Amino acid sequence: MDKFDTPSKFPPYFCVAETEGRIVGFSGCRRALVMSNAWEMIWNNVHFDFQRRGIGRLMIEYRLEQIKKKGGTIVFTMTKLPQLPGGSGFEIVSRIDGWYLMVNKLGSVDIT
Ligand SMILES: CC(C)(COP(=O)(O)OP(=O)(O)OC[C@H]1O[C@@H](n2cnc3c(N)ncnc32)[C@H](O)[C@@H]1OP(=O)(O)O)[C@@H](O)C(=O)NCCC(=O)NCCS
Repeated sequence: MDKFDTPSKFPPYFCVAETEGRIVGFSGCRRALVMSNAWEMIWNNVHFDFQRRGIGRLMIEYRLEQIKKKGGTIVFTMTKLPQLPGGSGFEIVSRIDGWYLMVNKLGSVDIT
């Protein structure tokens, strides 16, 4: 997972999924300002020809591992497909105009 080159103090990180030397997916995450150790997952895109092979879920799990390593204890995401992050521990906390706000609690949440 690489940091996107930006002067921001809380830069987004992106990762790609590769198969047979070809990039077939990308996704990202970044630290959220709402709370200490809170993160948000941004983007999740898999090439049409490679969908439904577990790549989307793999990229969610990979980012969760990286967020844990960086001390993240709570992760937010918005999606229209709650089954996808739901398989990795996210729970729906609200439904807004056809979108699902989902949260994954990885550890104790507090201000540090
Ligand atoms: C959404 C997206 C990232 C899923 O990636 P993927 O690699 O196909 O997903 P996975 O194979 O890991 O799917 C994991 C689970 O998510 C659910 N899922 C994935 N795609 C689904 C679909 N089109 N319809 C219903 N459930 C779906 C299923 O529960 C699936 O498990 P299963 O295959 O055992 O049934 C991909 O379809 C995509 O890039 N779509 C276009 C962009 C987009 O809508 N991104 C999400 C919003 S940012």
